[in-house]
Amino acid sequence: MQDEPPQRTQRNAKGEWLAMHAWAYIGTMRSHEFMIYGATGFTGRLIAEEAVRRGHRPLLAGRSQGPLAELAVRLGLEHAAFDLGDHRRLVKAVSDVDLVLHVAGPFVFTAAPMVRACLEAGTNYIDITGELPVLQATFACDDEARSAGVALVTACGFDVIPTDCLAAMVAARLPDATNLEIAINTGTTPSPGTLLSTIESLPRGGWVRREGLLWPYALGRGARRQRFHDRERTVLPMPIGDLETAWRSTGIPNITTCFSAPRWLPPLIRILGPLLRPLVRMQRAGAFIRRIALRYAPGPERELQQHGFASVWARVSNRQGERAEAWLQTAEPYRFTAMATVMAAEYVLVTRPIGALAPSQALGADFVLKVPGSRLLEGLEG
Ligand SMILES: NC(=O)c1ccc[n+]([C@@H]2O[C@H](COP(=O)([O-])OP(=O)(O)OC[C@H]3O[C@@H](n4cnc5c(N)ncnc54)[C@H](OP(=O)(O)O)[C@@H]3O)[C@@H](O)[C@H]2O)c1
Repeated sequence: MQDEPPQRTQRNAKGEWLAMHAWAYIGTMRSHEFMIYGATGFTGRLIAEEAVRRGHRPLLAGRSQGPLAELAVRLGLEHAAFDLGDHRRLVKAVSDVDLVLHVAGPFVFTAAPMVRACLEAGTNYIDITGELPVLQATFACDDEARSAGVALVTACGFDVIPTDCLAAMVAARLPDATNLEIAINTGTTPSPGTLLSTIESLPRGGWVRREGLLWPYALGRGARRQRFHDRERTVLPMPIGDLETAWRSTGIPNITTCFSAPRWLPPLIRILGPLLRPLVRMQRAGAFIRRIALRYAPGPERELQQHGFASVWARVSNRQGERAEAWLQTAEPYRFTAMATVMAAEYVLVTRPIGALAPSQALGADFVLKVPGSRLLEGLEG
């Protein structure tokens, strides 16, 4: 897979100054601070509730009028239903807000039209994808975002704020690091959209980053044991968003991203992966797999959202074998996503970063520690 070198420049000072003044003017004409597109989804509802809890009055948007109207009445907000395929309507809608929180996924089907509309309308954009082709396409819009004076902040959910921030923090301890390893234990159950996005990414298989390029890596291979802050778990390489975002935010050329999994899962993936990948691409078989999978992905219940937690580990090393590593705990991933996404919108609306940016570039490496429930457990002392 071809790739661009990382963008180390975070801000364009002149562009930022111009944008701040332009925004001060345009902001007075826009009818809402921000829009949540995909507000009726599992995650969208949590984000909308969190936004209201924090005192905002976002415009709720999506493609399905009925559920949107119901949610809007319950939360006492305005709503607008429109399809992403209607470009003129979309540009007009996003022109009315300062920022779009785009939470309708799988993003392989939804991100491109929304990013395009935001660039045309001069509207800031935040999404919660972790899908590699989507991240690549958004980062490729960096020049356009800078010209338009807007921020495109991608992967702004649990995937990848904690890992991107932790990677940036440990990388700062070892500036000549050449390797980055990340492992995550989510401690939760998937929502419908997360499972669908995972299924959509199945045909692309596994990936790791080596010497700045993405290389295929067979799914189910490379399982090992990893110590998290509470205990050791089996982890295996999975192609998550950090393969793109950490490359942008740290410039480290070798990146492996791992997820915790039960011990029996890696061998099962090795057997089932090659069978499922072509099936997902087939129309009828693919639809059947999606239907079955969705039955088992209602998302975490409120109790788990309130009391669950996730663990993240990151380690960098250089060619001399020196290392820096750290362990982080966050709130349960969907709760974390709801809180962090709204906080990221607040932050972007005040600080006005510019360009296509990974979370730690747009929000700062310590942003994760501002999200309730996050704390550094080990490493990075002093
Ligand atoms: N980064 C993270 O940590 C993180 C966390 C949570 C979720 N996510 C991602 O966020 C996405 C949503 O997850 P979810 O669990 O909320 O999913 P969900 O419950 O299935 O909801 C999906 C939402 O997106 C809308 N949607 C889907 N396809 C659309 C399209 N083509 N055009 C317009 N709207 C469309 C749906 O509208 P309808 O109801 O009209 O179908 C619904 O409002 C997934 O991609 C998931 O992977 C990421």
